[in-house]
Amino acid sequence: PLSRSLSMTSLSGVLPAWEEDELPVEDLLLFEVAWEVTNKVGGIYTVIQTKAKITVDEWGENYYMMGPYFEQNFKTQVEGCEPPNPAIRKAMDALIHNGCQVHFGRWLIEGSPYVILFDIGSAAWNLDRWKGDLWQTCSIGLPYHDREANDSLILGSLIAWFFKEVSWCSPNVIGHFHEWQAGAGLILSRSRKIPMATVFTTHATLLGRYLCAGNADFYNNLDKFNIDKEAGERQIYHRYCLERAAVHCAHVFTTVSQITAVEANHMLHRKPDVVTPNGLNVKKFSAMHEFQNLHSTSKIRIQEFVRGHFYGHLDFNLEKTLFFFIAGRYEFSNKGADIFLESLSRLNYLLRVRNDVTVVVFFIMPAKTNNFNVESLKGQAVRKQLWDTAHTVKEKFGKKLYDALLTGTIPDMNSILDRDDFTIMKRAIYATQRHSLPPVTTHNMLDDSTDPILSNVRRIGLFNSRNDRVKIIFHPEFLSSTSPLLPMDYEDFVRGCNLGVFPSYYEPWGYTPGECTVMGIPSVTTNLSGFGCFMEEHVSDPAAYGIYIVDRRFRSPEESCNQLTQFMFSFCQQSRRQRIIQRNRTERLSDLLDWRYLGRVSAWERENHQRYTKSITFPPQTEGFRYPRPYSVPPSPSASLHSTPHHSDVEDDDDESYDEDEEAERDRLNIKAPFALGAMPEGKKKQPGESGN
Ligand code: UDP
Ligand code: G6P
Ligand code: GLC
Repeated sequence: PLSRSLSMTSLSGVLPAWEEDELPVEDLLLFEVAWEVTNKVGGIYTVIQTKAKITVDEWGENYYMMGPYFEQNFKTQVEGCEPPNPAIRKAMDALIHNGCQVHFGRWLIEGSPYVILFDIGSAAWNLDRWKGDLWQTCSIGLPYHDREANDSLILGSLIAWFFKEVSWCSPNVIGHFHEWQAGAGLILSRSRKIPMATVFTTHATLLGRYLCAGNADFYNNLDKFNIDKEAGERQIYHRYCLERAAVHCAHVFTTVSQITAVEANHMLHRKPDVVTPNGLNVKKFSAMHEFQNLHSTSKIRIQEFVRGHFYGHLDFNLEKTLFFFIAGRYEFSNKGADIFLESLSRLNYLLRVRNDVTVVVFFIMPAKTNNFNVESLKGQAVRKQLWDTAHTVKEKFGKKLYDALLTGTIPDMNSILDRDDFTIMKRAIYATQRHSLPPVTTHNMLDDSTDPILSNVRRIGLFNSRNDRVKIIFHPEFLSSTSPLLPMDYEDFVRGCNLGVFPSYYEPWGYTPGECTVMGIPSVTTNLSGFGCFMEEHVSDPAAYGIYIVDRRFRSPEESCNQLTQFMFSFCQQSRRQRIIQRNRTERLSDLLDWRYLGRVSAWERENHQRYTKSITFPPQTEGFRYPRPYSVPPSPSASLHSTPHHSDVEDDDDESYDEDEEAERDRLNIKAPFALGAMPEGKKKQPGESGN
């Protein structure tokens, strides 16, 4: 039940004289503001994009997203149209008549939300004046050289101006601002006393990110940092001021995980009012095993790429090769790429000594590059050529065979191929000779000598040599289906992999392991990531469901590294059949991550409006729910044995059998999805002492 006990003592500014009762959605306008609206940088884009559908379902024409205009993004992702609401048209015109460009359209994602995009460049001539305004208002000065901060001020000034215009025609406005880059809009709206309810959501704190990246022992010293000094020393004092001011100006302050709530309390000196874990837009397939089939088809495409990349060195069995990957913004130590590389070097040793599995590891992290390198492109060209050659010879062979069979004879196999056929085959084979090792990176790196991944690869000596059982491919660009090298969307790529590895040290939420989960792909996360903590809290035995949580909170880096190595090594020891069973279990956690159950964000945003007019607190979103250990399950999948007496561990021990379906069904009956969050599954009421919140 809602607790209505919190008083609104922190609220200041002009409150419009709204009714006591909650206003219906039709009378409210909800605006969601973020730098990543139609503009992919990292996980904030995923939050906004995946939440669009349920928000539009509830708010319809009264929901708008706002962000910066980039021509390329607009052309490829947005369908321009006229705003349906005259108040919006009028507000946009006010800006446009003053020389600032504003674009309106529908974002072509599920839910097709309206977007209002502000052209930063067209308004940049106001920058000095707006810097003056910011200084007058709250004594925050922005240095000339910080382009990102300057752009965020331009966006914020345009948005506050827009809200002022809107509020004259339509008084019931809610503005939900994400992250410090959207903070200026909130600060200015509040300081100009625009009558609107405001929410600020932080997806990380600036200081947290910087301190962790700088190797501070962050979580043991949260209360000891002199935060003003730390911000100053890192030359982000002005950004930190923007962030902190936005947090304190907001009527409601939220964040994405408990761990970030604690961090925010120390780094920003305000305790979030509510924690809203990030969800996903989960698609369920009508056929239970469809996601397994998708894994198989995507895996074949990755195998094709690997055939090309390792041409001339394909002395490992692709049937016994597993694909691991790490992906996300390139923050080397925050994302745990450091301990991942170290663990891979140990895994390489273990596999050489004790196993015949090969692991190909992809690093998908964007860095500065100068296009694909020749060697990588050549690999795919060679593969294509071999394919074409095989195809040509096969056609000729097939025709001769067919002709012979028509005349009632079996052709002489020694002469069915002529000299020319052998010549083209030999030429094709010669083309696969190479004098260098398969490249570690697919692109020409601009900072090759100082790049942290490459430097560490050099240090540990994982150069894709023949006797390495762990091979590395660093793809320093987000994936795209239009790539000439690896033409796959990120989603398809994830589906085709066997394990996502995200051993983050700093990760307020961390979408990447969650995305793996809903696609039924096991992953590694940590107890310092919002996602990892959430899973620990809501799932009794996460490892049984293919969520391996590395302890980076209470163990030394060396111990965490060993634990990660062990997880990966055990994973390599599973049979194909065990992996299939585990993927079934992993996928079963999807409901827990679905916005439909997790978020209830729209409802919550409306409640924010109440909070603005009255005094209420928000219910924790998922409190109390806990997935039991799968009924059929052994303590950990690595030790898992089959329930059938005919079990065999051989690698071609194929596909989903009746037994696995049966096992899945038993688990399913035992686990009820969290249809009503806050409710425990029947017969699984929380025991005293069991942590459920
Ligand atoms: N991602 C992507 N393409 C890629 C690799 C990653 O779109 O090739 C996305 C991924 O789907 C995820 C986001 O990048 O949603 C990273 O978000 P996360 O919350 O894990 O980390 P952040 O980068 O925001 O810190
Ligand atoms: C899915 C498919 C199977 C395939 C398997 C490969 O389960 O339905 O046909 O054999 O994936 O799994 P693996 O873990 O070896 O990538
Ligand atoms: C930030 C965080 C990431 C989180 C994302 C969405 O970019 O680094 O952990 O998943 O925001 O909330």
